Amino acid sequence: MVDREAPFQFPIAGVVARRLPLYSEFEEFEEKAAEFRSPRTKRRRNPSNRPHRTRNISAAEDFVNPSSLKRPLYFPDKALAVNPLQCPDVDRYHFYPGREWRDTDGKPIQAHGGGILFVPETKTFYWYGENKDGRTYRLQKRSVARVDVIGISCYSSKDLWIWKNEGIVLGAEKVNKSHDLYVSNVLERPKVIFNDKTKQYVMWMHVDTANYSKASVGLAISPTPVGPFTYLYSGRPHAYESRDMTLFKDDDGEAYLVYSSVDNSELHIGVLTDDYLNLERKMRSIMVGMHREAPAVFKHRGMYYMITSGCTGWAPNAALAHSAESMLGPWVTLGNPCMGGNEDFRQTTFFSQGTFVLPLPGLQDLFLFMADRWNSHDLKDSRYVWLPLTMDGPVDEPLEDDFEFPLWSRVSIHWHRRWRLPLSWNLSGVRVNE
Ligand code: GAL
Repeated sequence: MVDREAPFQFPIAGVVARRLPLYSEFEEFEEKAAEFRSPRTKRRRNPSNRPHRTRNISAAEDFVNPSSLKRPLYFPDKALAVNPLQCPDVDRYHFYPGREWRDTDGKPIQAHGGGILFVPETKTFYWYGENKDGRTYRLQKRSVARVDVIGISCYSSKDLWIWKNEGIVLGAEKVNKSHDLYVSNVLERPKVIFNDKTKQYVMWMHVDTANYSKASVGLAISPTPVGPFTYLYSGRPHAYESRDMTLFKDDDGEAYLVYSSVDNSELHIGVLTDDYLNLERKMRSIMVGMHREAPAVFKHRGMYYMITSGCTGWAPNAALAHSAESMLGPWVTLGNPCMGGNEDFRQTTFFSQGTFVLPLPGLQDLFLFMADRWNSHDLKDSRYVWLPLTMDGPVDEPLEDDFEFPLWSRVSIHWHRRWRLPLSWNLSGVRVNE
């Protein structure tokens, strides 16, 4: 029987392994029975005869507390860093979500709020993200923790595990104070797609002022994936505020912008023009009043899926999965896709916030879920939480008030303390298990 209270218990490991034999190898890992539950505050002295009351500190509250006793669990010691070029054989190709992750120079990877582009011709993955390798500070006591803009980093890899630093492909502006990328502004969540017609790599990103009032998207282009990217301009999509955002390129080349708008209370979806340098007029508001952000879109067997987070700044919250037959909706909310670990894990997206879902070339029902475990006290030390996202076949319950069965599959993101991609998965002759 499944003990739902046991930390790191894996309730449906056997079920998934049976359904999808290919993925059984990363289901094998027993989750360590570590104490990783959110604490209770101490009991107060009880002057009356009223029953003692204890207050539950939420897992998210404990996570953002710099003196939490669990800090070393949320942010494991740097001595445990994953260092692909210097690691014991037994750890090769293994992901350890939450541990520091080093590049081929032995330096911590700086690609936060990022996304990955796969270039099929060279069978290379490019990971773009925010370089936050600076000092974390607050403009005022109560304002949001930040680092000055450094730029967008790019890393390349053939196997998604060993990453080479390709440098800063779009740098901050250090002199012109009115430039969008001026150091004291905000530059977040870059996403890059390739335009087959213009042969350009097109980057869209969230550009903002320090108080997040500009709420715009910025664009940059490059003839190569490793830049340097030329910054073009910024604007408010469809004349609306835009904060967290993502891009999605469909199989037919049509591309979409998804952004949090109207004070982050809803998401908007717009269609990019053919050259990907602007937006068509068509726009749909979705998840109105739901306050979702950090959208990450993927497609599976003709259906569209999205993972979103709630809006709680750098603090973690519960993810939701959504699905639609067409990118422009209507979108249906499926529920929290996080599985395994314990309740605290599932209610906080494993103490992280999603940023991208990567389809794995050659694998149909397996995706890579990429998330950031933000360290708001030292943003450069934010960690990456990469986990397998599986599509577990059609949902077997009929729709509410309806006898029809839904078209979507079950979206599951499983917690693993340690995991690796299927041994049989290889790319361009690069065997990931060698
Ligand atoms: C989050 C957002 C991040 C960053 C952060 C600042 O809600 O997803 O990208 O903007 O707020 O507090």
